[in-house]
Amino acid sequence: MTIRVCLAGATGWAGSALARAIAQSDDIAIVAAVSRTHARRILGDVLAEPRLTCPVYATVQEALAHPCDVFFEFTKPDVAKSNVLAALQQRVHVVIGTSGLTEADYTEIATAAEHHQRGVLAVGNFALTVVLLQKFAEIAARYIPQWEIIDYAHADKKDAPSGTARELAFRLSQIRPSELTVPLEQIQGAGETRGARIAGSQIHSIRLPGYTISAEIIFGLPDQKLTLRHDSGASAQPYLDGALLAIRKVSSFVGLRRGLDSVLEM
Ligand SMILES: NC(=O)c1ccc[n+]([C@@H]2O[C@H](COP(=O)([O-])OP(=O)(O)OC[C@H]3O[C@@H](n4cnc5c(N)ncnc54)[C@H](OP(=O)(O)O)[C@@H]3O)[C@@H](O)[C@H]2O)c1
Repeated sequence: MTIRVCLAGATGWAGSALARAIAQSDDIAIVAAVSRTHARRILGDVLAEPRLTCPVYATVQEALAHPCDVFFEFTKPDVAKSNVLAALQQRVHVVIGTSGLTEADYTEIATAAEHHQRGVLAVGNFALTVVLLQKFAEIAARYIPQWEIIDYAHADKKDAPSGTARELAFRLSQIRPSELTVPLEQIQGAGETRGARIAGSQIHSIRLPGYTISAEIIFGLPDQKLTLRHDSGASAQPYLDGALLAIRKVSSFVGLRRGLDSVLEM
């Protein structure tokens, strides 16, 4: 059976690569796409991929008028939550690739997913190597009580911290909060330089030309430290297999799950 997908952000850097990957798959089809710039066109004309015959709409509401099984969110953090809630209202399963949603957003989305009895899979990073970084960090956090996260990205990335850093912090919060030797309120000088405390981790975001996307976590013990680091290349290729897997798996559960490993045997 073909899985019918509504893809928001189908003309973007990540969404267009996913659309092309879907065009090559046998079991997934895009039935509607969302992009304001290319509204009223055929997606295949925009992406020079004749197998993508679906229409492009300016709004998620118009696109969701097409019956579909999965809504894929790959736009921008400021519209992602309302797009996801609109899809759930139509009783459609949702994959969230967009980064920048807050813990409060996820709480609201989890409630809506339960209410409508649909699955939502939110994946801050679809790359297999990031899934492994998360797993290794979870193991380390069981043994080492102090860590900090550094999130590196290109200068024009607007959301901070990255979805990868947020998801990492959230996952480690399920194990324990990172301990601070000097509590933040006792810091002398400019407290902001200690980073943001998110879900029990200190996170430091660096935005500079010369970087692509990297995530680093440093675990510290007296006289020893462990650094786990992931570096993304410039193409969207690493995300595609994970994104296709998410589309195939999201209808297999109800409620919100976070991280690709939540649907993998690891
Ligand atoms: N989870 C992962 O592994 C992963 C991987 C890569 C990227 N991401 C995240 O995915 C998101 C998209 O990244 P990107 O680099 O592809 O961005 P991008 O190149 O700027 O593309 C954004 C897409 O969303 C559409 N869009 C933007 N605002 C919209 C709105 N208000 N209504 C409808 N459509 C809108 C854009 O089309 P129009 O401007 O024409 O509307 C475009 O198609 C970001 O949050 C990024 O961090 C996650």
